Amino acid sequence: MSKTNVAVLVSGSGTNLQSIIDKTKAGELPIEIKVVISNVKEAYALERAQKAGIRAEFIDPKGLKREEHEEKILTILKEENVELIVLAGYMRLMTPGFIKAYKNKMINIHPALLPSFAGTHGYEDAWEYGVKVSGCTVHFVDEGCDTGPIILQKTNEIREDDTFESFKERGLKIEHEAFPEAIKLFCEGKLEIEGRKVRIKK
Ligand code: GRF
Repeated sequence: MSKTNVAVLVSGSGTNLQSIIDKTKAGELPIEIKVVISNVKEAYALERAQKAGIRAEFIDPKGLKREEHEEKILTILKEENVELIVLAGYMRLMTPGFIKAYKNKMINIHPALLPSFAGTHGYEDAWEYGVKVSGCTVHFVDEGCDTGPIILQKTNEIREDDTFESFKERGLKIEHEAFPEAIKLFCEGKLEIEGRKVRIKK
């Protein structure tokens, strides 16, 4: 099977990026990570990319209009013939124009069971609310905030002796399984979008 050209967009520590890199190196994902792009200069994810020999780019959003910042990203995506954008902790909303350009070709991971606890503090919000089951959601990106069609979800049951830290630590491990699984399904052409629903073909 030919490899899918992937760009990973990040803003932070990049543990999800690392799991994707590791699974790719282990031959478990039919992708080539062409570039990792960050809007935060100090993002540790950029170092992870460099260590793995992947092109790492910091695109400074300071002083730029949203469209101008995205234009710079688009230039790199075109250079690298990117077929799938993976948002792995990218903490910046995109304009409708950017989303349209990569419609059904951009996926995100959210650290809660959507549509619960959308937004930037999924772990904190679920923990504070006192839910007994949380988890993560991998979804296509549409114009809304965490509203796109859901590819897969995995659950994380809260235990009586959990602290916020232990809950989140387990949650991240679950994310590191869920995201590569969804990426693989995408690359194998097994995802079919029908309205809000994503059908997984055999
Ligand atoms: C993850 O919890 C992800 O679900 C959310 O941002 C966090 C990124 O973590 N979108 P990392 O940078 O992959 O460690």
